[in-house]
Amino acid sequence: METKGVPLIDMQDPHGLAEKLVKACEEWGCFRLVNHGIPSTVLSEMKVVCRSLLDLPFKIKQGDSPPGPGQRYTPLNMASPYFEGLNIYDMASPGAVDDFCTQVHASPHQREIILKHSQALFELAKDLGGKMTEGLGLGGLEAFKDWPCQFQMNKYNYSPESVGSTGAVMHSDPGFITILQDDELVNGLEVVNKFTGDLVSVDPIPGTLVINIGDVGMVWSNGRFNNVKHRVQCYKATVRISIALFVLGPRGKRVEAASELVDSEHPRLYNPFDFEAYRKLRHSTNSPTGEALELFRAALPIDS
Ligand code: OGA
Ligand code: NI
Repeated sequence: METKGVPLIDMQDPHGLAEKLVKACEEWGCFRLVNHGIPSTVLSEMKVVCRSLLDLPFKIKQGDSPPGPGQRYTPLNMASPYFEGLNIYDMASPGAVDDFCTQVHASPHQREIILKHSQALFELAKDLGGKMTEGLGLGGLEAFKDWPCQFQMNKYNYSPESVGSTGAVMHSDPGFITILQDDELVNGLEVVNKFTGDLVSVDPIPGTLVINIGDVGMVWSNGRFNNVKHRVQCYKATVRISIALFVLGPRGKRVEAASELVDSEHPRLYNPFDFEAYRKLRHSTNSPTGEALELFRAALPIDS
């Protein structure tokens, strides 16, 4: 069957899962994942927790966390008047989730759910990374082990006036891969088809997850994976909740193409760079869809 939307991938698919994942990352850089193994109760309970944390008073959400790329709270602002988010930077590092929970006065029940959910997303990211490297013929790589990951809880505060406007501007995600629990009731996520330039709706399917490839994924795959451009539109005057795990870049190492994917026919496309420096550059040069990567483009080898 021809389908207009992003591919649907079954994590339990016994036939060529790794190859199908690679194809989806190459052609779209986005797909919807079913049978991912995370119980739907964990997803729905986390959504409730996310909603109640983002309903807390501004002062508790903000706390005393310093502003910056890893900041704990992103309040409503001029550029994104409906969007606010709470962040756990480097969620897999010891104590990160617990510290966050303490700061927002999470109940023991909320703490348990956040721990369970964020850990499940992290394990899934590593599984997906392993399958992708397998599909690229780089068997045996322990994907994303010890990579910093950012866990983010998003709330879009839509009102009747916001209908028809943009909740999250067109962007690519800066890291390697994003696992997104989109709101199972409120649509609005749209991705760009890289072949046609068309915007395609990614409509919710309860219990499933959306996977996006970001800028680091594109660079690491030496241009094979698509750092998908996407945005969130408001179609309904209601609250929209989403929860994301961003796998960022390798810890303590520069971002660069896997050496197995570089050869004379596939010359290195980008010079190595530091992820956090790149993220700052994206911000300072206002490059939400990864335009700043051009600053790292490698010189083409001279033909002899
Ligand atoms: C993001 C993002 C989409 C959504 O946080 O980078 O694209 O559905 N979120 O909230
Ligand atoms: Ni995004």
